[in-house]
Amino acid sequence: MKRFVWLGILIAILGIYACTSSPAVDTASFEAETLTLTPGKTTSEINITWYGDTADGKSGKVKFALVSSMKRGAFTAKAQIVDATGIDASTGKVSHKVTLAGLTPNTEYAYSVSNDGTNFSNVYTYKTPATGAFTFVAVGDPQLTEPGVSPDAEGVPGGYQENNNAKTTMQGWQETMTLIMKQIPKVSFIAGIGDQIDRNLVSELGTPENSSDPHEPKYVNFFAPSALRSIPFAPVMGNHEGRSSYGFLYHYNIPNEQIFTPVNTGRSGSRHEMESRGNYYYLYNNVLFVVLSTAPYPRSKDEAAQIITEHFNETLKAAAEQHKGQYQWLFVQTHKSIAGLADHAADTDIQYYVEAGFGQLMDTYKVDFVLAGHDHIFARSYPMFNGKRVEGKAGNTITDVGGTVYFTLNSSSGQKFYKEFVPDIKNNAEYPYFEDGTTGSAMLMSGKKPYAVNVYHQDHKPMFMGIDVSANNVVFKTYEVQDDLTTKVIDTYTVSKTISK
Ligand SMILES: [Fe+2]
Ligand SMILES: [Fe+2]
Repeated sequence: MKRFVWLGILIAILGIYACTSSPAVDTASFEAETLTLTPGKTTSEINITWYGDTADGKSGKVKFALVSSMKRGAFTAKAQIVDATGIDASTGKVSHKVTLAGLTPNTEYAYSVSNDGTNFSNVYTYKTPATGAFTFVAVGDPQLTEPGVSPDAEGVPGGYQENNNAKTTMQGWQETMTLIMKQIPKVSFIAGIGDQIDRNLVSELGTPENSSDPHEPKYVNFFAPSALRSIPFAPVMGNHEGRSSYGFLYHYNIPNEQIFTPVNTGRSGSRHEMESRGNYYYLYNNVLFVVLSTAPYPRSKDEAAQIITEHFNETLKAAAEQHKGQYQWLFVQTHKSIAGLADHAADTDIQYYVEAGFGQLMDTYKVDFVLAGHDHIFARSYPMFNGKRVEGKAGNTITDVGGTVYFTLNSSSGQKFYKEFVPDIKNNAEYPYFEDGTTGSAMLMSGKKPYAVNVYHQDHKPMFMGIDVSANNVVFKTYEVQDDLTTKVIDTYTVSKTISK
């Protein structure tokens, strides 16, 4: 017995010696805080954001190199160093942002970040996509909460999944991210549709800098999955982060953001300012992605028209003009779905967006697909053009759609599921619209599907969508996370195109 004890001590000593006596050039020094990647303007760029402590200053740096140039996991003299831009974020924190440019397709890079320009973090990797076909994932309303805090506005116990109070939203999100990586290991990036984080009725922040942001723990929970260090995430501003704080601006390095004057919707402080932010675009191989922020709550058709004209049209125009002839498919990512059938289906702000011409704008720019959420249910619209269903295109496999298909995604973390035909606004006589010409929330509550909605699914389980894109085809597969953490495909939709844009 004694001999085993001595042997154990000897092994332990040798172990400690082995750990301390082989210094690598780049020893892992720390795990970077809320480190995430966002797509660059094109796939030749990648954007990086992380938080450092104010005490470390604003002179952050990123070291990067081809993985093939690394020696035993350490950078060599071939590594490049790029300066970050540091800005004051939440109290005690600096938001560091960098764009790495000139990247080669289908190539693996290693990178490491430094808060103070001297001490570097662990090494992470990022692989650029090959040219041509690719697969991306879309996730709806992760809406990360913080355990142990008060219930949110809709009464979901703070921090926990709606249907499983033993499981936090962070666990649900981690599980979904793990399943995404398992089910779709070749995922190139993840497209959000908004409400990445929740808010718990915390009032607006008065100033953009050096305010203690109570939403920070939610951002920490959202960025917790390690896959987000290697798989870019393209966020959308949802109503929750839009009304919460400036965190969206500090945590994401979004490409081609279009800066506008906020439209007056009667808001003040950070919420008013945030209503003009978050409109941006990026080209990903043969797809142009345009992100439109429907976080604002217009109080009238006129206010919605102003947002559509000044924010959405200008962003789509800039994107389409810059990338004319370079894309075969056009996706819009936005938060509020105009083709839902649950909690938000009779909302007046969405009604005003519709009546002010949101759909017509999609027609004008020949948008193929709109990815949205906010309604915490899965729904797929008929192809729509000029406010009407496109005739003869109602199936699951379509060639030359001739309109826009609107997807509504369910929550990807399990934070709230909304029941169909139970709208939040129950006395709206004008919206939504139905096939027989009737309108209003009362008709919806009688179980009628709104005019635009083709199929829907609500089984109170988290979901994500895998999207395969090639030159002439796009295939959407919507996965539902089962209780035993397997996945089930609940919708498959294939679109082919014989006419180029
Ligand atoms: Fe939401
Ligand atoms: Fe929302």
